[in-house]
Amino acid sequence: MQALRSFFMCLFFLFSLLRISAATALGTITPSGYIRDGETLVSVGGSYELGFFSPGKSKSRYLGIWYTDSTDAVVWVANRETPLGDSSGLLKLTEQGVLVLLVNSSNKIVWSSNSSRIAGNPVLQLLDSGNLVVQDGNETNSDNFLWQSFDYLCDTLLPEMKIGWDLVTGLERYLSSWKSTEDPAPGEFSVRIDYRGLPQTFVMKRAKKVGRGGSWNGLHLTGFSSGQPNPISRIEFVWNKDEVYYQFRLLNRSVFQRLVLSPLGVSQRFTWEYQTHSWEFASTLHEDRCESYALCGAYTICKINNSPICVCLKGFVPKSPQDWNSGNWSDGCIRMTPLACSHGDGFLTYNGVKLPDTSSSWYDKSMSLEQCKGLCLGNCSCTAYTNLDVREGGTGCLLWFDNIIDIREFTLGQDLYIRMAAAELGISYRFPFFPHRSIYTIRLNSLPELSFQNFLALEKTWL
Ligand SMILES: *[C@@H]1O[C@H](CO)[C@@H](O)[C@H](O)[C@H]1NC(C)=O
Ligand SMILES: *[C@@H]1O[C@H](CO)[C@@H](O)[C@H](O)[C@H]1NC(C)=O
Ligand SMILES: *[C@@H]1O[C@H](CO)[C@@H](O)[C@H](O)[C@H]1NC(C)=O
Ligand SMILES: *[C@@H]1O[C@H](CO)[C@@H](O)[C@H](O)[C@H]1NC(C)=O
Ligand SMILES: *[C@@H]1O[C@H](CO)[C@@H](O)[C@H](O)[C@H]1NC(C)=O
Ligand SMILES: *[C@@H]1O[C@H](CO)[C@@H](O)[C@H](O)[C@H]1NC(C)=O
Repeated sequence: MQALRSFFMCLFFLFSLLRISAATALGTITPSGYIRDGETLVSVGGSYELGFFSPGKSKSRYLGIWYTDSTDAVVWVANRETPLGDSSGLLKLTEQGVLVLLVNSSNKIVWSSNSSRIAGNPVLQLLDSGNLVVQDGNETNSDNFLWQSFDYLCDTLLPEMKIGWDLVTGLERYLSSWKSTEDPAPGEFSVRIDYRGLPQTFVMKRAKKVGRGGSWNGLHLTGFSSGQPNPISRIEFVWNKDEVYYQFRLLNRSVFQRLVLSPLGVSQRFTWEYQTHSWEFASTLHEDRCESYALCGAYTICKINNSPICVCLKGFVPKSPQDWNSGNWSDGCIRMTPLACSHGDGFLTYNGVKLPDTSSSWYDKSMSLEQCKGLCLGNCSCTAYTNLDVREGGTGCLLWFDNIIDIREFTLGQDLYIRMAAAELGISYRFPFFPHRSIYTIRLNSLPELSFQNFLALEKTWL
């Protein structure tokens, strides 16, 4: 017990020492200064450090930012694609406010930042959020930074970093994986936001969508399967005419979290454990086969506990039965009964699903669910509707047009109303006394009068 206590005392002491030594280090660089290999710039609060490093067994030198207490947790790299061969790198800030990374002996520039404006009095500073910024003098408003590393993400999402679009300037901020654990050059995978229709997050493999975090329903991304309330951080989705982005914020200052997109395209969340002084691997976001984007094709639902996992929606059949039965579900399913459009279509409710791809959706933030249904019925190409926001019992309207893709069964999912021809909205009833025609479809509202006589009449008119 005593030993354990002294161990923690020792850790605590070591920790305070680190903080103190960090805090005394210089936090800014002006055009007269520079950083060379071996030197570092420490953020004002001591959380992050900027300097040169070599990943893993690699001999190449990169300029990067890492978490001070865990130097192998590199969160940002400047010269991702242009490594230095030796330790002669030099980081300088020009009088105009441009950051340049050059080789001392030859003055060859291997990387540089850019800026839309010329600075009068440029200062380079590493903020305690991990953001490396070029400011003009004392300007601290982030909208006026001349340049910031948070605009050029690598594989790590830190608290308050944004993934998404500045719709005014057209700047896209997105995560991109490293090629390998020893090569920070952009790899195959990225996490980005597609803002067509209702904005959604996607995992991309080069130009191909491979996973869909989904759209925001007021509480969470519709495709996030973790479900557990996260006591450490909270996701925010901001979406207005100027910008659309997603970020997370820490709720507890004594815990730290980062999200990393691995070279294999897996999003991993790490939590810093102050007691053990190590990263606890908190969760993996990209999990099972149903997370594979549009695996089952149009008008299907992916059910992870089913075999096979792809199932046609009710009233639909495989478009290419042979492919479907051999496990190639990409052609999806088609309707058995075409929509009638104006007369008598209705909706079938699916409870608890990950909402389909919203890239060709339409939405309205104030409409009620009933108005939403009416609007969908009034437009022949509308195929499904639901609430836009699930809070307060549900508000707003979200409509789909044409194909419905990438639905999965999901306990935390939402209700989805899919348009069906009236004939498909009945119930199937087995009549033992007519073995030759064992299944008749009868509209629900005709059930109360269903007697044998009525049934015969029904048979005449319907079949
Ligand atoms: C650049 O290289 C020269 C020659 O090796 C050396 O004298 C000088 O100190 C170096 N400059 C910096 C900033 O390291
Ligand atoms: C800065 O550089 C990036 C990447 O090279 C480029 O896409 C962007 O347009 C540049 N921005 C400005 C303001 O020049
Ligand atoms: C920042 O502001 C202080 C006081 O307002 C001033 O003394 C200092 O020169 C300013 N620094 C820069 C780099 O403008
Ligand atoms: C923050 O986290 C620490 C360590 O896990 C815990 O002891 C503390 O109760 C938490 N505080 C809040 C407000 O959740
Ligand atoms: C699945 O079927 C589609 C269309 O028939 C075809 O283009 C695709 O190559 C097939 N995929 C596999 C893995 O066989
Ligand atoms: C139905 O909705 C689509 C997509 O929003 C739109 O292009 C079309 O004009 C609408 N049709 C009618 C009849 O409103």
